[in-house]
Amino acid sequence: MKTAIYPGSFDPVTLGHFDIIKRSSEIFDQVIVGVLCNNAKSPLFSVEERVKMLEEVTKDIPNVEVQSFDGLLVDFMRQNHAKVIVRGLRAITDFEYELQLAQMNRVIAPEIDTLFLTTNLKYAYLSSSMAKEVAMYGGDISEFLDPVIAKQVQEKYQALQEDRECK
Ligand code: PNS
Repeated sequence: MKTAIYPGSFDPVTLGHFDIIKRSSEIFDQVIVGVLCNNAKSPLFSVEERVKMLEEVTKDIPNVEVQSFDGLLVDFMRQNHAKVIVRGLRAITDFEYELQLAQMNRVIAPEIDTLFLTTNLKYAYLSSSMAKEVAMYGGDISEFLDPVIAKQVQEKYQALQEDRECK
């Protein structure tokens, strides 16, 4: 059985991420979406919330499962007997970081390869951070996120706003 892991922060999952998950699920027997737990980026959503959101959007893809992980990606790969890391490439600006990450992983775990899928052109500009920025200022995010996720992002910013107003 060929298992791939698609790792990331997914804060939150975007339609661009979903496109990569869907396409990977057609290439591999099993795809594990790995949600990084101890993220230096101080995420908007907790790891439990991010896992739940991913489970919701992938519920109709039977060979996809979602797990959180902490520590090195290659250790998580080995625990799951996975040999392929899937990453999406949007533009040349992603390339330097992605190449470095893939090479580092290859040095510390020579049995593991990274497979890059080019992002659907429709979502080439899209990132979780940009979607969040639009949402933070009350903009329309329906083009970027699944409706269920968009609602949760809007509610999160609303709650943060109310929190600020109370103090
Ligand atoms: O969606 P992101 O934030 O670009 O994903 C980055 C991620 C989670 C793939 C990367 O930060 C990662 O693998 N972190 C775990 C620690 C690790 O193994 N780092 C690579 C070796 S330094």
